[in-house]
Amino acid sequence: SLTLLVGCKSVSGKTSAPLYQAKEIIIGKSQKVLQVARSAFRGNPDLSVAFKGKVIGLVKFNENTYVASLLVCSHRGCGVEFNKSNGSAETSTKASNISLGNHYYICPCHGAKFTAKGVVTQGPAVENLTTFITSSDDNFVYIHLS
Ligand code: FES
Repeated sequence: SLTLLVGCKSVSGKTSAPLYQAKEIIIGKSQKVLQVARSAFRGNPDLSVAFKGKVIGLVKFNENTYVASLLVCSHRGCGVEFNKSNGSAETSTKASNISLGNHYYICPCHGAKFTAKGVVTQGPAVENLTTFITSSDDNFVYIHLS
């Protein structure tokens, strides 16, 4: 059969947010910040931001509101994934679909689920994902690591 590559869908049909290699910058005296170009979203509501071997899920709620969650499960540390299993990436990642009640991250190890804001909604995990403060300007979104 013919497989079309649409957006970031892989041939297996599994989807993932685009992966962006973020640049770490220092602001002020010693504040570590990841700088993410707004253009990297390319119209998507979410982005996987990689830095130093870690991945942060960055979800855009609106032009000025972003939530950054470390994609490490609070149960036993597996990498959690964007949950796009119930529908295509196009329908399941619409910004309007992202809410606290919507399971957005899923852990492949034991099935824990987290909202787009990193809040745990299904065990065995009991703790939320680690989140980071974010800020933004015209060109960049900043993830404050410290
Ligand atoms: Fe994620 Fe167990 S490590 S559910």
